Amino acid sequence: MIGRPDGVPLLRAGVRITPRYRELLVKAGISAIYVEDEVSAGIIVEPVVDDHTRAIATRAVSSAYSTAREALSRGKRLAPDAVEALEDVVKRIIDQLQSSGGVALALADLSSSDGYTFQHSIDVTAVGLMVGYRYFATHGWTDYRGERHYNKLEERLSTLGLGLLLHDIGKLAIPLSILNKPGKLNPEEWTIMKSHPRSGVDILDGSQWSPLVKAIVLRHHERWNGSGYPDGKALEEIHAMARIAAVADVYDAITSERIYAPARPAADGVRTIIEGSGALFDPDVVDAFCRVVAPFPAGTPVELSDGRKGIVVSVPEAALDRPVVRIVDGGGAATEISLLLDSSLQINGWDHGLLSPAVAA
Ligand SMILES: [Fe+2]
Repeated sequence: MIGRPDGVPLLRAGVRITPRYRELLVKAGISAIYVEDEVSAGIIVEPVVDDHTRAIATRAVSSAYSTAREALSRGKRLAPDAVEALEDVVKRIIDQLQSSGGVALALADLSSSDGYTFQHSIDVTAVGLMVGYRYFATHGWTDYRGERHYNKLEERLSTLGLGLLLHDIGKLAIPLSILNKPGKLNPEEWTIMKSHPRSGVDILDGSQWSPLVKAIVLRHHERWNGSGYPDGKALEEIHAMARIAAVADVYDAITSERIYAPARPAADGVRTIIEGSGALFDPDVVDAFCRVVAPFPAGTPVELSDGRKGIVVSVPEAALDRPVVRIVDGGGAATEISLLLDSSLQINGWDHGLLSPAVAA
């Protein structure tokens, strides 16, 4: 059972979840739990960012936001040395991603629905760094003269991570009544909401921050076809780091619980990103995304094309949408089926053609 950041256990093994427990869990910010029973026994649901790192990251991001809020109230800006702890957080997340092979086999949505901005920033950072890792390894990075490089990738990733952690810092300038509004924003509120990327760069102290961090903050809502904001920039006018941030941001928004919408499954997030390829998102970034984010992470319940129901045990890196599935309704001994080996079987509701062009290459 995932405990609180302070290490106090929430439930013991074997405890029956009563409505009272449910209420307490929700109060503690736990919106979903995994239950290990005979069907799911041995399935390892490993979050990309472990609890310890998440707790450290939450504290660092929350403290960066308070520092920025305080600076704003005194008419000052945020200097990089005021948020040095964030660099350590980025390093920890990168280390974790590297030790897990950089593939998001499970992005467990167990995070608090409170403090959405902080948790969202951490999850976007994890997804964005995984995508960035893959993208830079394949495409390198382009300097201001347009020359491509494949060196100093670690440095690029650290800058990307810092920008991802701070991407929504401009939301500090948005009234809570708009940020936390459960319904749709009216046009006036929407205009205010759309000012957050620019407010974000305004908060960062001009010359001291990397222009790349500022590009992520300013451009994470720009879209490949020019339909985004604040300036309707398109294609390579949007820095690659911001194009990566855009994909990570949208994916995480879909798969996290919001004030106005429940969390949707990873498959919905992956489908939305693929459908936006070449229109809303850079196709090369989407390709990198498809190689690192699994639509059916371990622990996901699925139904197969022959009607059998099961739960995902593991995901092969070679084909992220062809997991190993444990059949749960057969009775007797559990059967495990590898959809990679048995390609006649499909997952109901999923178009297997969506991912295969990307992963087959
Ligand atoms: Fe944003």
